[in-house]
Amino acid sequence: MSKPRSLLDTKNSFGWLSIGLHWFATFAIILLWFVGQSIASQSVEQIDVRRSLHITIGLIVWLPLVARLAWRYKSGHPRVNGQTLLEHRLAKAAHYVMLFVLMIMLLSGPLMAWAMPDRSSLSEFAFAFHSNAAKALAVLVVLHSLAALKHLMFHEDETVARIFLPRKDDAQDEE
Ligand code: HEM
Ligand code: HEM
Repeated sequence: MSKPRSLLDTKNSFGWLSIGLHWFATFAIILLWFVGQSIASQSVEQIDVRRSLHITIGLIVWLPLVARLAWRYKSGHPRVNGQTLLEHRLAKAAHYVMLFVLMIMLLSGPLMAWAMPDRSSLSEFAFAFHSNAAKALAVLVVLHSLAALKHLMFHEDETVARIFLPRKDDAQDEE
């Protein structure tokens, strides 16, 4: 009657749920970013089609992305073996900033789509948030990926490996 331990996070390791949500979200966010970015450069006939495509993808992935935010909040942040408390807190803060910006995107997008037909100041307000948050998230994701690359190249730790595979000896970490 063993439960699949590696599904959930442990003290030092991400489980399959966190790993799956991380890579699903990465794919969805990058896709939405490029489709969103391309809306304004479309011809008059194409702009509505492209906007609808962005909104449709956004609505399909909305719930899994919210689940991703809730899961990270609930499950906490496993510490990398050998990491100091300060390093752990900095990494955690950087990740939470990204999730916060993602939350702004997930709120401002649907709000804008809903308020858009009557071109109210609410939709302009939501657009300003969505557009700036999109830029901020793009910068953060690039910095985040560079940080991952730095760990891969200059640190002999499991920071990168653990977002691909749960640790095999996890069972020893628990209780
Ligand atoms: C993480 C998720 C998302 C990302 C990265 C993203 C990215 C973008 C980007 C880059 C733009 C163009 C902004 C500009 O022109 O400055 C945009 C516009 C827009 N997005 Fe999103 N978006 C996301 C989620 C959503 C969701 C969930 C919805 C609604 C269901 C949505 C609705 C819209 C709308 C209505 C526009 C305005 C289109 C226009 O220019 O007329 N977005 N988004
Ligand atoms: C090519 C893109 C990406 C790469 C190479 C990458 C790499 C990584 C790595 C190596 C970790 C593990 C860090 C650790 O062990 O503590 C991680 C965790 C994390 N990444 Fe990414 N990442 C990417 C995209 C993204 C995106 C788009 C987001 C946007 C929200 C994001 C947010 C996070 C968060 C919040 C964590 C903490 C664990 C979690 O909640 O999933 N990452 N990433």
